[in-house]
Amino acid sequence: MRIDLAGRTALVTGSTQGIGRAIAATLADAGARVAVNGRREDGVRATIDELREQSPERDLVAATGDVSTAEGATEALAATGDVDVLVNNLGIFGSVPPLEIDDDEWRRYFEVNVLAAVRLIRSTLPGMTARGWGRVLNVASDSAIVIPAEMIHYGVSKTALLGVSRGFAKEAAGTGVTVNSVIAGPTHTGGVEKFVYELVDPALPWDEAQREFMRTHRPQSLLQRLIEPEEIANLVAYLSSPLASATTGAAVRVDGGYVDSIVP
Ligand SMILES: NC(=O)c1ccc[n+]([C@@H]2O[C@H](COP(=O)([O-])OP(=O)(O)OC[C@H]3O[C@@H](n4cnc5c(N)ncnc54)[C@H](OP(=O)(O)O)[C@@H]3O)[C@@H](O)[C@H]2O)c1
Repeated sequence: MRIDLAGRTALVTGSTQGIGRAIAATLADAGARVAVNGRREDGVRATIDELREQSPERDLVAATGDVSTAEGATEALAATGDVDVLVNNLGIFGSVPPLEIDDDEWRRYFEVNVLAAVRLIRSTLPGMTARGWGRVLNVASDSAIVIPAEMIHYGVSKTALLGVSRGFAKEAAGTGVTVNSVIAGPTHTGGVEKFVYELVDPALPWDEAQREFMRTHRPQSLLQRLIEPEEIANLVAYLSSPLASATTGAAVRVDGGYVDSIVP
């Protein structure tokens, strides 16, 4: 199988670091023109420079904007042009004791993790369906299914995202556009390093801290290690490609076997 995204434009939200950055790189390597998104112009520019330094033939454009706001989404979309592949990767997370998550924090998680994706789907789906081809990928999490006690608001926002994906897949039925979720598992990103050190002894070196985190807080992982961002990006690239034409309305796992279920 050859994943070929030549001639397609992809917008990857939250792609200046972590999983989003790996997705941007992988889609560009598959031939897509990729819009890199983050909140600050300098951060986006620096990411593009680094990704081009690794591989000069990558076709990358800056799509700066805080896509958790309507204005930011409009800016990012204007810089991107017609979107063929929308990857709603942006997501925030952090541990807070359940009874201390106040209304404002619940709203913030909904705005950033759910509404930002919905808004971008609303803006791009009509163009995709009119052109008869498109891909929407929403990056969810194992936490959508296994709600973590230390971040209920995060888990619930990702559960909502699974519903968003299934619902918009129905809206796109029969059009050549597919809408899916990717259920990512615990992944080795900068944000997660910080998160791991909030939960285990900060004095531990990274390798030990990671093992301790997986043993104590993620014992269900069959992989027994953090997932690398590129491993998530590989699945996103497949689902973004013409090869995945019969997969829609699905929640596809790349979670290291974390979710203890025999169904996807
Ligand atoms: N890491 C994990 O273990 C894991 C596991 C399962 C699922 N996930 C999901 O995977 C996705 C990516 O996670 P990650 O760990 O790679 O994230 P991350 O390392 O924290 O990166 C977040 C990215 O989002 C950008 N960003 C933050 N707020 C933004 C906003 N309002 N508008 C535009 N960009 C914004 C940041 O760029 P700037 O700072 O430059 O704006 C950055 O590029 C999330 O949806 C997360 O829930 C992660």
